[in-house]
Amino acid sequence: MTAAQVAATVMDVRRKGDYVALRLAAPRIAAGARPGQFAALAVGGSDSPMLLRRCFSLAGWDAGGIEVVLAVTGRGTAWLARRRPGDVLDVVGPLGQPFRLPERPQTCVLVGGGYGAAPLVPLAAALRAAGCPVRMALGAAGASRLMAVAAAEQIADTVTVTTDDGSAGRRGRVSDVLPDMLTGVGTVYACGPMAMLAAVARLAAGAGMPSQVAVEESMACGVGVCMTCVLPVIGDDGRTRMTRSCLDGPVFPGDRVRFEAVGTVPADAVGAP
Ligand SMILES: Cc1cc2nc3c(=O)[nH]c(=O)nc-3n(C[C@H](O)[C@H](O)[C@H](O)COP(=O)(O)OP(=O)(O)OC[C@H]3O[C@@H](n4cnc5c(N)ncnc54)[C@H](O)[C@@H]3O)c2cc1C
Ligand code: FES
Repeated sequence: MTAAQVAATVMDVRRKGDYVALRLAAPRIAAGARPGQFAALAVGGSDSPMLLRRCFSLAGWDAGGIEVVLAVTGRGTAWLARRRPGDVLDVVGPLGQPFRLPERPQTCVLVGGGYGAAPLVPLAAALRAAGCPVRMALGAAGASRLMAVAAAEQIADTVTVTTDDGSAGRRGRVSDVLPDMLTGVGTVYACGPMAMLAAVARLAAGAGMPSQVAVEESMACGVGVCMTCVLPVIGDDGRTRMTRSCLDGPVFPGDRVRFEAVGTVPADAVGAP
């Protein structure tokens, strides 16, 4: 389904730990949404100097609308966090390639770091609906940066929580608990910071199982025009190309992303200078 640009009325604004959840009336976006996709929100109003849209994973949706959950990290997210019910936002979505579900039921592990948990809740629901047992591991720097633990506990068969500072769950990184979760698993899914995704992809590959990772590269246009979001990805022919994460991602097979070279153009990439 193609993306729609809609004027979405804010239906609800809620604080969730360090995050702000916005529920937006956007039935046309909700109708085509799949887990792992994102929406691009205009910020600042019509006369704003903030020209670029800000991208957020679709954290949930129903017939009436979509939910995004944001951390305030700069001017755009601060402006969004000040919205109130009845305000209208310019939203484009659903964008990007979703997580792929297994062809047959199999046990799946879902790993989320911080707000990377957002797309994993609808993914867990879709996997369960497809007959897949789901194990989730959610990690964050501290308890207030954990996201969606209660929702995960309602959907997943098991949920393991980690925090770097030990303020909730086990002390340590979410990738620390992953090796113990991989027995009998078919696919590993992950969303979170790039270093976490690299660790998850490495551990999954080491255990001989496929992974799908949702990357978060900075995006300017969100629709494939500007090339801001490229990262080195190995294609079916074995060659590396600088690949647009907004269009061909954000979800990629974990073993295809050259994590060690993200932020560079590897010399062996097709078209490299
Ligand atoms: C596919 C995708 C999904 C995302 N999902 C979420 C989510 O569910 N919740 C959430 O809180 N954040 C999410 N982000 C990050 C979010 O887009 C940035 O935090 C936000 O754009 C920052 O805007 P700002 O104006 O507050 O900050 P500024 O730093 O002022 O932003 C300036 C510019 O940099 C870009 N930018 C800055 N930080 C990031 C970043 N970490 N990733 C990508 N672009 C960035 C912005 O889009 C903007 O164009 C996601 C990003 C991507 C690409
Ligand atoms: S963000 Fe512009 S091409 Fe991807």
